[in-house]
Amino acid sequence: MMNIDKFIIGFDSALRTLLTSAQTVRPVPGGELPEAALTDVEKRLSCALMRVNHVGEVCAQALYQGQGLTARNEAVQQTLLQAAREETEHLAWTERRIAELGGRKSVLNPLWYGGSFAIGMFAGMLGDKWNLGFLAETEHQVGEHLSSHLQRLPDNDGRSRAIVKQMEIDEASHATMALSHGGVELPFPVKVTMKLGSKVMTQTAYWI
Ligand SMILES: [Fe+2]
Ligand SMILES: [Fe+2]
Repeated sequence: MMNIDKFIIGFDSALRTLLTSAQTVRPVPGGELPEAALTDVEKRLSCALMRVNHVGEVCAQALYQGQGLTARNEAVQQTLLQAAREETEHLAWTERRIAELGGRKSVLNPLWYGGSFAIGMFAGMLGDKWNLGFLAETEHQVGEHLSSHLQRLPDNDGRSRAIVKQMEIDEASHATMALSHGGVELPFPVKVTMKLGSKVMTQTAYWI
């Protein structure tokens, strides 16, 4: 694909992520469960955690698009773009859940998208094995973060918990996919830097 075409597709994807409602092919996990009677405190907690997860999915969209743009190998590019489409479902699920809880999305989403897109492009420029290694490590860290949310979400908020559980399964499969395509383990300092970066994002998105 010509570079200009890729940039137009990337720009279109950014606008879709930030300005429109994401669509899902799979049914929303937990959609069949009744809405629990949550206290105000529980509702605020669920809202904040689902906002953090939504921001994570905005970042995933941007990372995958950035990585797909600069990936060297056509097969790797297609794999990344396919994964980005799957992440769109997570975006849709978290967005819907936030609305059900009467919450709002992060006002900083354009900033998260821009920063993640730049990081994704940089990872792609380093070559496919590092690009895929970065993806696998990202998914691994997201998985840890989601399992921490399963500890923190109110026990009776089955609808939020079902979404987070399915996302945890999907992210693990994305990590496996990246490794099976040749991703390598990242150096320890890079992993630590990624953890610090995501901590800033998750702690900010909890509030705004
Ligand atoms: Fe995801
Ligand atoms: Fe993922």
